Amino acid sequence: MDVFEAIKGRRSIRSFKEREVEDSIVEKILDAARWAPSWANSQCARYVVVRTKEILLKLGETLPPTNPARGVFAQCSFCIAVVAKHGLAGYKKGERVESRDWYMFDSALATQNICLAAYALGLGSVIVGLFDHKAASEVLKVPQGYETVCLIPIGEPDKSPAVPSRKPLSEIVSYESFSRG
Ligand SMILES: Cc1cc2nc3c(=O)[nH]c(=O)nc-3n(C[C@H](O)[C@H](O)[C@H](O)COP(=O)(O)O)c2cc1C
Repeated sequence: MDVFEAIKGRRSIRSFKEREVEDSIVEKILDAARWAPSWANSQCARYVVVRTKEILLKLGETLPPTNPARGVFAQCSFCIAVVAKHGLAGYKKGERVESRDWYMFDSALATQNICLAAYALGLGSVIVGLFDHKAASEVLKVPQGYETVCLIPIGEPDKSPAVPSRKPLSEIVSYESFSRG
């Protein structure tokens, strides 16, 4: 699939059909995540793959009832939790060399690779950022020094959602100096 087709065609999917996804497909998606760029190639992102229904449901319970993705955990084939290791992105030899921590940025790049790869393989995904991060870390047994950044339920889409609009370029792009606030 053409990269532009994947970028434009990918949608957040919040309704899945029952389907077992083969390990080889899951691995392909994880491999795409692994190839994401990262700060000084420090590769802070770790991935926890969850297939067990019981654990998926526990993760779903970490979302507030108002989160439209809450029910997705009962339907998805599997979920990838992106977990960042602290002290790598923005650090050199354990010393912080940047005013900001880049772990969220690097995790997001890996996350986008996961969503695009899933889409290219005929699967749907949704990035879940609004959840109780501490509770999810407990469910996943994430140790200290690591942070559960997001959850990505993945599976076969049940329906094609409407395409949410995007701002036109004329509203968000300026040239030579900033003039689009
Ligand atoms: C950092 C981040 C966090 C998000 N968290 C949630 C979430 O908790 N629940 C949800 O249903 N969607 C979540 N989304 C999905 C967005 O709502 C979605 O990407 C946006 O509405 C655009 O729709 P599209 O992905 O179909 O283009 C999140 C997306 C991002 C990038």
